[in-house]
Amino acid sequence: MIRNQWYVVLDSKELRDRPLGAIRLGERLLFWRDADGKARCHLDKCAHRGASLALGKLVDGRVQCPFHGLEYDPSGRCVLVPANGRAAPVPEGFRLRSYPVHEDKGFIWIYWEEPQAGGAVAAPAPPSPPGFFDDIGPELAYSTTIDPWDNHYSRVIDNQLDQAHLPFVHHNTIGRGMRTVVDGPGILKTEEGFFVFVYNREDDGRPRRSTEEVPAPDPSRDYKLEFRFPNLWQNYISAKVRVVGAFVPVDETKTLLYLRFYQSFLRIPVLRSLVFALANRFNLVVAHQDRRIVNSQLPRGDGTGAGELLFPGDRPIMEYRKLRLAAKRKLGG
Ligand code: FES
Ligand SMILES: [Fe+2]
Repeated sequence: MIRNQWYVVLDSKELRDRPLGAIRLGERLLFWRDADGKARCHLDKCAHRGASLALGKLVDGRVQCPFHGLEYDPSGRCVLVPANGRAAPVPEGFRLRSYPVHEDKGFIWIYWEEPQAGGAVAAPAPPSPPGFFDDIGPELAYSTTIDPWDNHYSRVIDNQLDQAHLPFVHHNTIGRGMRTVVDGPGILKTEEGFFVFVYNREDDGRPRRSTEEVPAPDPSRDYKLEFRFPNLWQNYISAKVRVVGAFVPVDETKTLLYLRFYQSFLRIPVLRSLVFALANRFNLVVAHQDRRIVNSQLPRGDGTGAGELLFPGDRPIMEYRKLRLAAKRKLGG
């Protein structure tokens, strides 16, 4: 897990009007909404004696610890120690460590920055907020399903970029037709990640074509994948149908796959709900075909330095690994 990145960590619908505790990026985190409805995130460890504020409640736009009633404002600063009385100033250092939060398009991101000196105080403003897929507008309605995987999130990402597994893992769903030869794939780098253009075909004896030999990448072409570092992926099936995945790191060995089905072809509410239910169910069937295999991959961890032997069709995985490496280098790691 790489620090100083904006990670999608929750769906907006998960965070309502109560404190929410969640393990993300290996840390016990507290999420809540302040009086303006703005999402907030802190380490979920009361400065007094370490209780979980997720078990507490919201009081007048502050979050109250369930143990001795300390109250924290949206910045994470403690503003009341009931045992000392309202008249007493709150001692310095009574703070929660905070992460910057961004909310957009029904997702909540945190900027998982490195701990600052002293560990407790929120850092200065992080780099500009994360973007989302430019071509997903309000005309596309969505429904989300959340699926737990027992592996590092980068293994789950690798899998969604992997073109060679389709006729094997998904032989009876999305990989029918034994298109085993991976021509290309075409790759187009973007500011935040890259597109993958898929040219899988049956093996008719012709040699496979390299990334340089397949048609030049063309973002206006239908059917492509897009990956945005560090944890967002889109399967662009058509202008009216998309699948988006957010690979939410729980810890080094657990990931929550937030799968969203977007569509704009049906507007009648009853039919729409039916299509969402069917699409989510189908997407989970496909995801579980993957999960069974990906959860078996050894060694555990992010896959780099694992002694794997990649082949040319694994190019999208290599591109993802390069992004990870660049982000780690930037941190001096
Ligand atoms: S542990 Fe939170 S108030 Fe004491
Ligand atoms: Fe798959």
